[in-house]
Amino acid sequence: MSKIISFATQKGGSGKSTLALVLAAPLATEYRLKIAILDCDYQQSIVKTRNQIDAPSLAAMLQADPSAKYPYDVFPLSLDNVFDFTDTHQDDYDLIIIDIPGRADGEDVFNVLTGCDAVIVPLVSDYLDRASTAEFMGILESIKSAANKAGLPFDYFGLATKRIAGRREEKEMDEYIDGLGLSRFNSFLSNRLAYSRASTLHSLLTPGFRTYAGGTKDSSDEIRRVCEELIERLDLPNHKADSLATAVSEVDEPGKSSTTVTE
Ligand SMILES: Nc1ncnc2c1ncn2[C@@H]1O[C@H](COP(=O)(O)OP(=O)(O)OP(=O)(O)O)[C@@H](O)[C@H]1O
Ligand SMILES: [Mg+2]
Repeated sequence: MSKIISFATQKGGSGKSTLALVLAAPLATEYRLKIAILDCDYQQSIVKTRNQIDAPSLAAMLQADPSAKYPYDVFPLSLDNVFDFTDTHQDDYDLIIIDIPGRADGEDVFNVLTGCDAVIVPLVSDYLDRASTAEFMGILESIKSAANKAGLPFDYFGLATKRIAGRREEKEMDEYIDGLGLSRFNSFLSNRLAYSRASTLHSLLTPGFRTYAGGTKDSSDEIRRVCEELIERLDLPNHKADSLATAVSEVDEPGKSSTTVTE
């Protein structure tokens, strides 16, 4: 059955759509999860990225490789239709990511959020936004206690993004969230131009696209850490770890050990 998550906060422009874009392609290609993004924002940032930027690239790729395809599905959808979609497609995907509009104050948004397995709140460390973001997470904490008491799955996590290394506000944000007993990821995304170039066709972990977007080894390490923490916290299948384990066990069969033990 699919896990459903959304990136949401009351603060517009905090990086919700970018988080969905940066993580979806690596989760689909390197971690081999079946993914759909439901774009429920009237701005249609993700649908536009696919139709306006990625569709011409895919058309060019198809000339050389007729099997080229998008790594995951994207659907434009109104908030009212989310649960019809998730009911119909619950066995088609490992992970359904909902991109929420740049507000979190309407009943329609809260209905969708409470139906998710987890809500991920982008944490941007600006002084002015800190308290209101924590307040929003406090509401999610209350939903979590009520849902869990009723035996329903619901979780939420802060996830720092647009991080600027060494800025004291970043450490203060972590301490503030921890001090309030709210939950957050240990991993984070920095403020990098490459992330604003994330695509629905290419993963930023693919060497060619990473170079084109201006990414580095550090950006790949960061993305992998977030993907792995997401997989672990949401208890998603980890196909990458499974296939690595198989490869290692094939190399290390009893009697054919590739390691030398010195006594
Ligand atoms: N980690 C990041 N590094 C650099 N730029 C970023 C990062 N995350 C987001 N941005 C930039 O910040 C701006 C807002 O990001 P985005 O559109 O993802 O926010 P949003 O929360 O989805 O906005 P809205 O509330 O309007 O839906 C964009 O210009 C995007 O490229
Ligand atoms: Mg957005």
